[in-house]
Amino acid sequence: MAEPELPAAARAFAPGTFAGRTALVTGGGTGLGLAISRGLAALGAHVVIASRSSAHHAAFLEQARARGWSAEAHVLDVREAADVERLAGALRERLGALDLLVNNAAGNFVCPAERLSARAWRAVLGIVLDGTFFCSRYFGRDMLEAGRGAILNVVATYAWTGMPGVVHSASAKAGVLAMTRTLAVEWARFGLRVNAIAPGPFHSEGAAANLWPDDGVAQRIERASPQGRMVEADEVAAHALYLLSPAAASINGECLVVDGGLSLGRNLWAPGERVRAGGGR
Ligand code: COA
Repeated sequence: MAEPELPAAARAFAPGTFAGRTALVTGGGTGLGLAISRGLAALGAHVVIASRSSAHHAAFLEQARARGWSAEAHVLDVREAADVERLAGALRERLGALDLLVNNAAGNFVCPAERLSARAWRAVLGIVLDGTFFCSRYFGRDMLEAGRGAILNVVATYAWTGMPGVVHSASAKAGVLAMTRTLAVEWARFGLRVNAIAPGPFHSEGAAANLWPDDGVAQRIERASPQGRMVEADEVAAHALYLLSPAAASINGECLVVDGGLSLGRNLWAPGERVRAGGGR
């Protein structure tokens, strides 16, 4: 029987790149998280996904069963420090310290800042900023004791460019970027690496529902991109796998932007506009 095709994100890597490693991906059952979970599992890791809704676990668990990947799923709200600590304890007992942690869980929607309620602000800050810290702190503690590991945080380019409508998410992601760099220098001596990845907009159910409910927005993003297209979740996931892999052993405190150049300033000229030398011809 032919070997099942590797998930797209895993194709650039040697088989077994993550063999013997244990990875936890928050929000690992949908969108970018799912692409990363699949890639890690296909390359040999035991992958634990954790998210609020068990309905979001099914697709990954079914695929894992069909492909013979090593996988499990847990219901977890990363905003609840006690629940994160409990899961860290349970996994430590059974599997030992994690090798890889991907802080991917997020909440986002577009809302003018002056209309954002206090609860809405706290919901997003709670998931993105608190959640990333709680997971880094509780799973990271075991990784520190084990003296090895890699943590990857998912941020967004608007953490430094700014973007209307996402003051909650931008503020939280900027905090996560500062956390990434701080923990990178604080924990490197103990064998840990902490990096971030900043994806450009990509198609996913979550993004479609929360960020661009009408097609016009997606088309506008495509027109604004120097490459004339959105990135794919699998392309972003491939770079996430790289940052988690031994190939990135000396990459620490870095934030890798995977957006095809969308966030770079275009200043006078729009993408595709012909720039004429000497103002003449
Ligand atoms: N616009 C404005 N306010 C919103 C909102 C929106 N689209 N969605 C939620 N809120 C507000 C709610 O009204 C509530 O505030 P209020 O009580 O003052 O009215 C507050 O946010 C909390 O909402 P609730 O639904 O109770 O919180 P939650 O913790 O269950 O939901 C969210 C978390 C807000 C992040 C939710 O949007 C979510 O789960 N999204 C799916 C995941 C996601 O966004 N992924 C990222 C894809 S890019």
